[in-house]
Amino acid sequence: MQTNEELLSQIDKMRKEKNAVILAHYYQVPEIQDIADFVGDSLQLSQKAAETNADIIVFAGVHFMAETAKILSPDKKVLLPDLEAGCSLADSCPPDDFKRFIEAHPGHKVVSYINCSAAVKTMSDVICTSSNAKMVVESFPQDEKLIFVPDKNLGAYINGQTGRNMVLWDGSCHVHNQLSDEKVIQLKMQNPDAKLIAHPECRGPVLALAEFIGSTAALLEYTRKDSCKRYIVATEGGIIHQMQKASPDKEFIVVPSDETCSCNDCPYMKMNTVQKLYLCLKNESPEILLDTAVIERAKEPIIRMLEISK
Ligand code: 13P
Ligand code: SF4
Repeated sequence: MQTNEELLSQIDKMRKEKNAVILAHYYQVPEIQDIADFVGDSLQLSQKAAETNADIIVFAGVHFMAETAKILSPDKKVLLPDLEAGCSLADSCPPDDFKRFIEAHPGHKVVSYINCSAAVKTMSDVICTSSNAKMVVESFPQDEKLIFVPDKNLGAYINGQTGRNMVLWDGSCHVHNQLSDEKVIQLKMQNPDAKLIAHPECRGPVLALAEFIGSTAALLEYTRKDSCKRYIVATEGGIIHQMQKASPDKEFIVVPSDETCSCNDCPYMKMNTVQKLYLCLKNESPEILLDTAVIERAKEPIIRMLEISK
């Protein structure tokens, strides 16, 4: 059995030999973030996937992210260390149910959060992420009728930000949705000098208490530039690694998912391990494969998003 250090050095060697790029989301374990060629939020990762010259993209993230990379770079080999690394939010929107939902709302344009399957993307007019959702929604005329899918918390937040009344799909991320306002209030009382920052996938009562709301990249940037020394962070705990690296003199308190732990981990993101990353690069498997027709149709709303975000 090789040590993590040995595996990491083999990963480094193989990526050069194979002209592979490792893209990692902020919710990956610190070792994977540190070996990655690029670490980012959903928007930044899709931008990188679209522009890379590598022959192989190893996506250290979850299934919908690797699928998006394949849609944007269909000629490249896209690998995901564990094919079971799904997403409760994407799973909350089965394509057949969604098709019926669209049919029940004639005359509506469809704005889909990137955390959805390729099949849902094929039924969408435009994709958005948490960092550009407001901009994407505002690209439609104010009186345009819109469906927002699948995150009801992000959708409600954007409705409030834009004064719209988008029809919301009843989906959520189980990691963010379970963070409670009671716990947040308790942490705020225990740490009156700390600022609460939150991801918009959190429920409305948590967002109402936050001093700053943003995507993972926006939260990181905020803590880097802001003068406060302590933060209560309402999102997945993986982001703390980069926050701590960028601001070693600051303290970050994760809002725990329940009373039994002090962390808030996404079980899907954490399915990727150094061992699986090594095997995936070595075996060039598991690979993301998609139907050409799905790629062609799903690409349109993603490209629209990338154009709006330029
Ligand atoms: P962002 O990286 O866009 O902030 O999204 C967070 C998330 O939950 C990814 O699955
Ligand atoms: Fe999905 Fe939530 Fe995990 Fe992100 S944190 S991958 S939205 S389950």
